[in-house]
Amino acid sequence: MSKILEINNLSINFATRDGSFTAVNNISFDIEKNQTMALVGESGSGKSVTAMSILQLLPKPQATYSQESSIKFNNKEIIDAAKEDLLSIRGNIVSMIFQEPMTSLNPYHRVGNQITESILLHSNVSKKEAIKEAMDLMSLVEIDDVSRRFYSYPHELSGGQRQRIMIAMALVNKPELLIADEPTTALDVTIQAQILDLMGKLKTELGMSILFITHDLGLVQEFSDQVCVMKNGEIVEQGDTNEVFTNPSHAYTKKLLDAEPQPKPIEDLR
Ligand SMILES: Nc1ncnc2c1ncn2[C@@H]1O[C@H](COP(=O)(O)OP(=O)(O)OP(=O)(O)O)[C@@H](O)[C@H]1O
Ligand SMILES: [Mg+2]
Repeated sequence: MSKILEINNLSINFATRDGSFTAVNNISFDIEKNQTMALVGESGSGKSVTAMSILQLLPKPQATYSQESSIKFNNKEIIDAAKEDLLSIRGNIVSMIFQEPMTSLNPYHRVGNQITESILLHSNVSKKEAIKEAMDLMSLVEIDDVSRRFYSYPHELSGGQRQRIMIAMALVNKPELLIADEPTTALDVTIQAQILDLMGKLKTELGMSILFITHDLGLVQEFSDQVCVMKNGEIVEQGDTNEVFTNPSHAYTKKLLDAEPQPKPIEDLR
């Protein structure tokens, strides 16, 4: 299988008022084409910092990378890459969705127009074609009654619908990698399951890879092919999700699994 992302010996330090702080400590993992990798671990373990580093969105000069650190997309190093290369990665190869869609959607613009604008920014099509594409994307993420919802403002939608719009926005550039940082924590369990199902379906249809960040081991088990377990900035265990879950080798993973209430089969929640 071919690798879309290869992270090797990644260490990230933050300069703070109290001195230097290592948020990510020598981690390595790869993401294959059309696979979902989950990053799981307690709060503060370095999951979001890792995700932000992949898009080179960490604040400079506070955040620094060790000499050995390497993040490669399709074999191309992106740490300290030229600005144009980074813009092209952010615009064309990778998209990111966040926990709270309200922070990423403009409250004053109709959601359909926001998707249309984004399409116009990314491709050389007429406004009419962009609107048609935006409506198609809204259907793809299973928004019902698209011709009406197109004209809704974000606050007129439910949390689940907003999250679907966010995913539609993230798909505008047909990304090879979708980074989803706790994309469903604000949603109730039934909607969470629907959104993650949808992401899984889109992964297959569009041949994407997904980096899925979550606290929830039940969701990892259900939706990811591989998993990295993070603790204090380190990956303490990684591998195929099924193997890690049936045969955890690290004490921390065992503890996490023991602490997890037995996940209900997700079908029961629908
Ligand atoms: N800009 C920054 N400056 C200094 N420290 C930071 C900065 N950003 C993150 N950190 C620190 O890095 C560590 C890892 O943070 P990160 O956001 O990656 O955690 P996380 O695993 O995503 O946690 P959560 O599950 O709560 O989202 C934390 O201790 C955090 O305080
Ligand atoms: Mg986080």
